[in-house]
Amino acid sequence: MAMHKLAIGNDHTAVELKNEIKAYLEEKGYEVVNVGTDSPERFNYPISGYKVAKLVQAGEVDGGILICGTGVGISLAANKVEGIRAVVCSEPYSARLSRMHNNTNIVAFGARVIGPETAKDIVDAWLGAEYEGGRHDARVAMLTEIEQTQSLAAAE
Ligand code: RB5
Repeated sequence: MAMHKLAIGNDHTAVELKNEIKAYLEEKGYEVVNVGTDSPERFNYPISGYKVAKLVQAGEVDGGILICGTGVGISLAANKVEGIRAVVCSEPYSARLSRMHNNTNIVAFGARVIGPETAKDIVDAWLGAEYEGGRHDARVAMLTEIEQTQSLAAAE
């Protein structure tokens, strides 16, 4: 199902890029809920990762966008929340395939890694793709099994 309402979060390294991506998406008609920091003061990325993840988990938004220096810490935080599949990437191919094959519900990238135009390409690729289901369902279900049981029957 196409995403229309998104949450966006960031740390102090990514205020400018967050604002540019938010404006870009709003121009395209998306509703974007900003839960990140708007200040250059040092800000702990797990807070934004967690907030966006909880909005996605609750179904209050269709998906999330997270930006820190590398995209790594903030995506790790989001992936600790049950039901979240956050991808961190630096190019659009992985973003697109992460929707089609892994049913990711959050995309993350690094403000110190990529520029705004690549970030827009990534967001476009991610939002433009749909989960394919089918053969991918069993694998995504395994991710959920690991998350919920801390074990994986198929690997025993
Ligand atoms: C902040 O210095 C930096 O550690 C953070 O933005 C991010 O890159 C962490 O993964």
